[in-house]
Amino acid sequence: MTDMTDKIRARKYDQGRNWDAWPNYESAKSGLLDYWYPVAWAAEIGKEPVSIRVCAINIMLMRDENGHVRALRDRCPHRGVKLSQGIQEFPNTISCPYHGWTYNLEDGELVAVITDGPDSRMCGAVAVQTFACEERIGLVWVFVGNGEAYPLDEQLPAELVDPPEFAVGGRIEERTGNWRFYAENGFDEGHAKYLHRTAIWRTFKMMPTWNKIHIEKEGRWLYRVEDERYWEAEFPGVGKWTNDRWWKIKPKQQQGKFLGNTGGSGRNDPYIESQNFPGFASLSLPGVLRIAYPQFIHYEFYVPIDAENTRYVGVMVQFKTGLKKLAFYFHYLSRIRWLFHGQFSGQDHWMVAETDAPPERLYRPDISLIEWRKLFNGSHPISDDAARKMDDCAQAPATDKTSEQESTVND
Ligand code: FES
Ligand SMILES: [Fe+2]
Repeated sequence: MTDMTDKIRARKYDQGRNWDAWPNYESAKSGLLDYWYPVAWAAEIGKEPVSIRVCAINIMLMRDENGHVRALRDRCPHRGVKLSQGIQEFPNTISCPYHGWTYNLEDGELVAVITDGPDSRMCGAVAVQTFACEERIGLVWVFVGNGEAYPLDEQLPAELVDPPEFAVGGRIEERTGNWRFYAENGFDEGHAKYLHRTAIWRTFKMMPTWNKIHIEKEGRWLYRVEDERYWEAEFPGVGKWTNDRWWKIKPKQQQGKFLGNTGGSGRNDPYIESQNFPGFASLSLPGVLRIAYPQFIHYEFYVPIDAENTRYVGVMVQFKTGLKKLAFYFHYLSRIRWLFHGQFSGQDHWMVAETDAPPERLYRPDISLIEWRKLFNGSHPISDDAARKMDDCAQAPATDKTSEQESTVND
């Protein structure tokens, strides 16, 4: 009897599992290579070099004479000084501030060595790595990796490849915390209902107390799909809990479950509705969260800086034209930027910075985290078509490791 009690107590006090079952996840600490990452607002990149860090790689960005954004590894091969500290001495080049080694912006070739004369033997023998760049939805995207860049369109959320006219607002911020924790937090089913109940953004919007979900995979996206929703609950021996207040509005039924709960929205944007997302929250590699609301889509790109820091790129896209587009910009700058991309999202930052896992003891809603981690077990499909083909070919049952990890969810 005592033995049994000791065992039960030991199990209760168990600090939980580590991530041995997720070796690929562990090794992706500093980010996944060979993906496109949005790194800066296009309007903020000019002819002065800017230094950024992605996947623990220092990268220099600047525009050439033709207005193209160029990205070079921000490290002079001579003695390792950052090229972004230098200046443009000749058109379409950057010169290192130390000894004047000068590189072509387009292909990274060393084209002149100012302190070694016009006949320097180093020219043609040295180059710095360059990265493909694109500008889309107001952002500069860089293909970070060593492989050949594939078209950005294959990785952009499909609804942004050829969208109707739209307005965009957003916030880019360097935040402490690992990018995988940000992705997990963004897709974490349980947190919003409780953590964000105090967000000013949610003052007039009611959220459920708890719900039951399952995860659906469609292309390369994972969707959280709600099966049951409870606005209040009586917890045995403890009491009742609800987020219901007289001033809060429940989401309208016609929004459908593929659109997020914004409470007061009377109608759905036809373009967003036409996407027919299986659920309003979706996540894909390399750390892209998409939340579809009735009137706008909110994206969060968790761009790894290194293992400890993340560039948060929060973007809200509204498919509006004319005066409505202007109204969106006013709405965004006066309210959304501060309340949603600011204080609300700041609560996520707070929690990610506080997260101390593994070890961990996962619970039923964490199926959202587990399905995300499973994506790292396979190869990394880029397009939705490639992901579908992979799913069709995947005849093999789940690996023992995966089953073992799933069994740690207490349901
Ligand atoms: S370190 Fe760059 S030129 Fe010497
Ligand atoms: Fe959140």
